[in-house]
Amino acid sequence: MAMTTVETSAGAGGPDGAGAAVEPVERLMGMLNESAVAVLVSIGYQTGLLEAMAPLPPATSAQIAEAAGLDERYVREWLGGMTTGLCVDYDAGAGTYQLRPDYVPLLTGPGVDNLARTLLYITLMGEVAAKIAEKFRTGGGLAYADYPNFMEIQAGDSASVHDASLIEVIMPISGCVDRLKTGIDVADVGCGAGHAINLMAQAFPASRFTGYDFSAEGVAAGRAEAAALGLANAHFEERDVATLDLAGTLDLVTAFDMVHDQAHPATVLANIYAALRPGGTFLMVDVNASSKVEENIDSPLGPFLYAVSTVHCMSVSLGQGGDGLGTVWGVQLAESMVRAAGFGTVDVTVLEEDPVNAYFVATK
Ligand SMILES: C[S@@+](CC[C@H](N)C(=O)[O-])C[C@H]1O[C@@H](n2cnc3c(N)ncnc32)[C@H](O)[C@@H]1O
Repeated sequence: MAMTTVETSAGAGGPDGAGAAVEPVERLMGMLNESAVAVLVSIGYQTGLLEAMAPLPPATSAQIAEAAGLDERYVREWLGGMTTGLCVDYDAGAGTYQLRPDYVPLLTGPGVDNLARTLLYITLMGEVAAKIAEKFRTGGGLAYADYPNFMEIQAGDSASVHDASLIEVIMPISGCVDRLKTGIDVADVGCGAGHAINLMAQAFPASRFTGYDFSAEGVAAGRAEAAALGLANAHFEERDVATLDLAGTLDLVTAFDMVHDQAHPATVLANIYAALRPGGTFLMVDVNASSKVEENIDSPLGPFLYAVSTVHCMSVSLGQGGDGLGTVWGVQLAESMVRAAGFGTVDVTVLEEDPVNAYFVATK
């Protein structure tokens, strides 16, 4: 999961978090209100209201609705929630609203600090909660197709990190920049909408890039972007990487936030190992968490990560009859599974630019 560089407070259940500092009833009432604001923020992102409000001086609901091209009655009710939720200032005398200046950089713009984009996961979870509750009784899981807009939300989230850091910060960690400049064969497995492949293909024109994903929507998006950018060295294939059979043909394989989603991650890791030439590099980016629940209590995003796992990552794996590793499989298990696939060395790095993820670099 990609996310922001913005500092977050301690985990909700941790010693310094809300769980310890307030009475349970107070905490739960706060949760009710904050969750409601999260839904409003998500709607504000989806409708363009937040972006429309950002440049406006104090304005009436009618002026804001007009600027956003939306229905005034809905906008006014939303503004009520955002005002009582303390994201919007309201001047009762003038009847005007303004997005609070300190919230503008956190709720708008294309960058990694836009938490409104991240809050889309809250409404996405709400959309499938009833289906997931049923799986608690029956076992099994959901299919990717059960998640409306998943590809789009994931692509926007990842693009914010990759636009800011992929070429200048992340690729140097792989140790492959010189080889990429000379010309090597690269694959990104579970490439989603393919933006990472296209960024790399643009930055390293001498190298050849292929993105693999079993999502037709993702592959089509990757191809469309490559065509729009005029990239001759970026290709996409609709493919289940559990059946990847590219023995010894690649120099670098990347896997951004996808191994823990796999039905059979050990098989995919073994396929990646087999696909690399001797000396080849595997760059795996996955969630920076511990494999032990007790070590995640103080994690800034512990509850969010386990929730996303329950509702999506673990479920899509179980839905394919898979192992259901889950989002929070943890750095310890991840490292041991990469080693078990055959890799001799595995280095783990956490970037200041992307503290939610750990970067695993393994050499064949
Ligand atoms: C969480 S998304 C990450 C997408 C992209 N790498 C990114 O960082 O935005 C996981 C992606 O892996 C793809 N995926 C999962 N299992 C796969 C498999 N066995 N074969 C091919 N693609 C797979 C999904 O379709 C999805 O696009």
